[in-house]
Amino acid sequence: MTHPPVVTYPTYLQLDKILEAQAPLGPATLGPSVHAAEQFFIVVHQAFELWFKQVLTDLDCACEALSAQPRDPERALDHLQRVASIHRLLYQQMTLFDHLSPGTFLAFRPYLGTASGSESDQWRQVQKALGLRGEPRSQLYALLESAARDSGLSMLDVYREPFRAGVLYRLAEALVDISDLFWQLSAAHVEIAERTIGQREGTGGTRGVPYLREALEVKAFPELWDIRTRL
Ligand code: HEM
Repeated sequence: MTHPPVVTYPTYLQLDKILEAQAPLGPATLGPSVHAAEQFFIVVHQAFELWFKQVLTDLDCACEALSAQPRDPERALDHLQRVASIHRLLYQQMTLFDHLSPGTFLAFRPYLGTASGSESDQWRQVQKALGLRGEPRSQLYALLESAARDSGLSMLDVYREPFRAGVLYRLAEALVDISDLFWQLSAAHVEIAERTIGQREGTGGTRGVPYLREALEVKAFPELWDIRTRL
């Protein structure tokens, strides 16, 4: 009789793969501190990608819960609140780069070639789910609006009568949290870029900081920001 393999902490988490996946490209001649800084740079970016994987899964689940028959807004809320909390962490994570000195970064930056955060598929998918980056409208927002319509409420009613709207109001505010935190994360990114590379061009070939700043002109779920003026 064959027994199922014993589950252990390192095998369950596949730590052998994860802990071998940091490979700084700067030569050893740059010294141990530059090596440590490049490893730090890689770990932070990898952690972003892992968290974005979770964010995308939770956003999908929230959409699924809001489009199920019958709709399950409480379950959608659980997922959206987790997304908001992860974004709070990601903002903090971005500020970790306050501990990457410009001189050290410049030492290993040439080895990055043309690699750039703008090649992050998952970041783009998150932006798409939030209705950013030229997307006409977020599916998530459209689903919330139709859930409100099913209850005979417009989104303005949801804000005028939060007590009556209940979970719909809390869902709308979870989206505002996510919008706000994604904006704060993007703003922290611009600050970090300026702090480490000043007005240099990006490795991806853009103008760098001025290009990144343009993204701060738009916020996700503009309808929910607009309602604050119309109330
Ligand atoms: C020292 C840290 C960082 C610096 C100096 C930096 C710098 C830049 C610059 C200059 C750009 C413009 C595109 C280019 O020409 O390369 C950019 C884009 C981008 N970076 Fe960063 N970045 C840093 C950290 C991060 C982190 C931790 C992430 C998280 C994944 C990230 C994600 C992105 C994304 C998604 C873009 C594309 C933005 C867009 O096109 O709207 N960056 N970064």
